[in-house]
Amino acid sequence: MVKIPEHIIDQVREANDIVSVISSYISLKKQGKNYIALCPFHTEKTPSFSVSPEKQIFYCFGCGIGGNVFSFLMSYEKISFLEAIQKLAADAGISLPKYKEDEKQVSEYEKLYRVNQFACKFYVETLTNHISSLKTYFKERNIKEESLKLFQIGYIHESWDSLYQEILKQKMDPMIFLTAGLLLKSDRDPNRIYDRFRNRLIFPIQNVSGRVIAFGGRTLSDEEDVPKYINSPESPIYYKSQTLYGLNYSKDWIRKEDASIIVEGYMDFLQLFQHNIKNVVATSGTALTIDHAKLLRRYSQNCILCYDSDTAGVNAALRGGQIIFQENLEVKVLLLPEGEDPDSFVKKNGASSFFALLKTAKDYFDFKVERLTHTYGGDSISQQTRIVSELIDSLVTHKDALKRNFYINLIAQKYGLQENTLLSELNKKRKIISSRESIRIDEPEKEKHPKYTSITLTGAWNAEKDVLNILINHLSEVKRFIFEILEEDDFLNQVFKDVFKLIKRNQDKSSEELIHLIISKTPDQQIVGMLSADLFSEIQDPERYLNDCIQKIKITKYQTEIDKLRKQLSQLNPEEIQYTRILEQINKNLIQIKELRKIFAPHKRTT
Ligand code: GTP
Ligand code: MN
Repeated sequence: MVKIPEHIIDQVREANDIVSVISSYISLKKQGKNYIALCPFHTEKTPSFSVSPEKQIFYCFGCGIGGNVFSFLMSYEKISFLEAIQKLAADAGISLPKYKEDEKQVSEYEKLYRVNQFACKFYVETLTNHISSLKTYFKERNIKEESLKLFQIGYIHESWDSLYQEILKQKMDPMIFLTAGLLLKSDRDPNRIYDRFRNRLIFPIQNVSGRVIAFGGRTLSDEEDVPKYINSPESPIYYKSQTLYGLNYSKDWIRKEDASIIVEGYMDFLQLFQHNIKNVVATSGTALTIDHAKLLRRYSQNCILCYDSDTAGVNAALRGGQIIFQENLEVKVLLLPEGEDPDSFVKKNGASSFFALLKTAKDYFDFKVERLTHTYGGDSISQQTRIVSELIDSLVTHKDALKRNFYINLIAQKYGLQENTLLSELNKKRKIISSRESIRIDEPEKEKHPKYTSITLTGAWNAEKDVLNILINHLSEVKRFIFEILEEDDFLNQVFKDVFKLIKRNQDKSSEELIHLIISKTPDQQIVGMLSADLFSEIQDPERYLNDCIQKIKITKYQTEIDKLRKQLSQLNPEEIQYTRILEQINKNLIQIKELRKIFAPHKRTT
């Protein structure tokens, strides 16, 4: 285990305000003295994720995850504590003491991030070395030098193994590059390893925090049988269904403009961005998924799908629009003039024409009505029935009951139908779907919880935990009082006993220092979550409540002792001397309990 000195951990934490770090991943809203958001770790419709700027901690009341800025990064980016510190130290320009890295300590995720970063750098260098032969291409496609830099676009010439040779030269392990899909093994000869990307322009695909997780490569060859684009395969750090190209560059703009523009291609993204239309993301050839919708919702409720007007584009808009629509986002669809994609359109007509066009984007539902009418006609009753039936289909999985009703109302008016008839038709279909498929379409949406190590708590664990909370939050007199009365052996739960010991050893520390010390020293994430939760609901009038807790803890301790003794007793013969001794001990414990009941008058927790 690599040890970073405590004061450096504190320094890194203090340099990274939890509110600004978390807001770089999700949208936070101010509420009272805290900030709230939809929890990124489980599915929910109303925000139960809270961040306290004062205490520099976060907690989700929905799924119980919580902790400090390091804990957040560890969970969000699936990295280790050490990696979280390294990242935040780098962000704050703090240099960590040099230490020799233990290979085994580097997570699989981190290894994958590193090989992708290595390849990215290699492709960018290769582009720089070949820039003269690429100049015409960039000019033709209107790719500016700043864009090449900003998006870290790279290039690889026609070669079977340039990257592989570089990996060998740098004495890196090719295995991880194989996992990342940057290298391939020949089918015929498994000893032969070659590069995935050849003669291509390389677009690094980054996650929301800007780390390279995969690549897309556009061919520069004119040959017919070469695929125009190839991508890295999925890996533990790259899931297509959860990745949107460019989001790391556009998320702040999406928030600012309160809308995201969704395009299909890398080049569409790049060209719009170059034209100062920066609230854009690209799906890069994959179909939109529920996870994409959830990802976008972190930054804005509004999406505009911007696709080509050919059949493929229309179908993609219908399918993708439906996914986002049913996730209860506001979706609009914009089909570009025939033969144009966003790249070519904005290149030809400029940003202001594109903005004018954006204004004409249609609401998804209207778009759907229009397409259905276009496909089926709409004159005869049977045609209209078909249209209405498909419109109802598109509402079946919509997450919001009120909106479903509004749309039903709309259809009723448009086609002169009874609302009740439509509603019962909708409900019939909802029933069929929910019985046929395992997906639950009824609210409340089934919440997904993050995986925790399961620990079992016993005895007066709630009181033990609350005493810790009081210890962390309150003044030194209260602390002294607790330490006089309670000792570590009063705690029946090892996890809380450890925290108690930690606090006792660090009595002179401030609340804030204590909180973060505990978070960093407690290995169980569930306990970290629990303690963070309590810090969000400070105990009022702690002196009164404290008595209750102490009484409970002590009584439980004696009671547990009694239970143990009784068990021993049941194994013994009443004639034996041991039997009488144990009886005496039980009695002593009982007297202790009686005494305790006398000393502590009952009080209720006032929060
Ligand atoms: P340019 O032709 O360079 O302008 O690219 P484009 O971005 O306009 O591509 P296009 O509209 O043909 O396709 C949209 C997106 O679909 C691309 O950006 C790719 O992500 C993806 N795509 C296109 N062709 C292929 C292909 O042959 N294979 C794969 N895997 N993806 C492709
Ligand atoms: Mn194009």
